[in-house]
Amino acid sequence: MIGTDIQHAKNLLEAGELVAIPTETVYGLAANAYNDKAVSEIFRVKNRPSFDPLIVHVGRWEQVAEFVVEIPEQAQHLAARFMPGPLTLLLPKNERLSDIVTAGSPQVAVRMPNHYLTQQLLHLLSFPLAAPSANPFGYISPTTARHVADQLDEQVPYILDGGACTIGIESTILGFENGTPTIYRKGGLTIEMIEDAIGPVAVKPYSTSQPQAPGMLQSHYAPRIPLKIGAIGELLSAFEPNRTGVLAFRRKVPVVPAANQVVLSKNGDFAEAARNLFAGMRYLDGLDLDVILAEPVPEMGLGRAINDRLRRAAAQEG
Ligand code: TXA
Ligand code: MG
Repeated sequence: MIGTDIQHAKNLLEAGELVAIPTETVYGLAANAYNDKAVSEIFRVKNRPSFDPLIVHVGRWEQVAEFVVEIPEQAQHLAARFMPGPLTLLLPKNERLSDIVTAGSPQVAVRMPNHYLTQQLLHLLSFPLAAPSANPFGYISPTTARHVADQLDEQVPYILDGGACTIGIESTILGFENGTPTIYRKGGLTIEMIEDAIGPVAVKPYSTSQPQAPGMLQSHYAPRIPLKIGAIGELLSAFEPNRTGVLAFRRKVPVVPAANQVVLSKNGDFAEAARNLFAGMRYLDGLDLDVILAEPVPEMGLGRAINDRLRRAAAQEG
């Protein structure tokens, strides 16, 4: 069921049930982070491997003191500057949080979402919310309540509808490796903004073998039909235009039917492109087509996170 009743959402969460919640990045599938049974249910519903840890969401930054050992100075600084917002920090956890949430890691991923409904909900609760994105594992992340319902309606008692996500791409994940700030997932907060606040950061390229953050798994955010990245004009020669979808940055291409094409941002605005990205992929994936051709965007600002999601959607499993 979809609705906007935060009291109902609160009651369900207190009873150990799951609730899908809106955030500014993507919708999350939330449970009481201190309730192991409820957290296990997230893994079951998402069909998520138990080695892939969950992000813990708080309403107030001070609440992290309940479950982390210490907060490095740079993390404190980033939190003060960017939270609530599309940033997730990896911090050393204490025993208050079970290993199920962090998949056995001594670190917990923490974030404070910037969404009025979810903020209200978090303030009504006496516990933080563990929540991954509210999609079946490996599929495109949801940016509307409808997206969540299309795939998980039967299995989630309540979907809190906060409208379309204003950022539309997941949070940036940052941790500290021997004290060096390191980005594990490019996301809604740009590297430029982070470096402006704390100086140079390292970026860990994703790998399929030993994922530090399993969001680094190469094949992820993927539609059902194959997606290829490159110059559309060149890629097109290998496909039947009527059976081809196009995910274009600024403008459609001539030979492919207009209904099979999505433009991310006519004006070349990265924020608008990020907001439209996952909905665009879902739309094209829902048509009866053979392939989706996607054009990379300029590799700067939010464009980096957009290209990262396109590349992962293009990576075929196995
Ligand atoms: O924007 C977001 O971050 C959204 C909204 C709902 O908050 N959440 C989200 O969650 O994208 P999820 O589970 O789809 O992706 C979180 C990523 C996963 O790849 C996970 O492996 C990584 O964060 N992660 C979580 N806890 C971690 C930990 N303790 N150490 C390393 N990576 C962690
Ligand atoms: Mg996800």
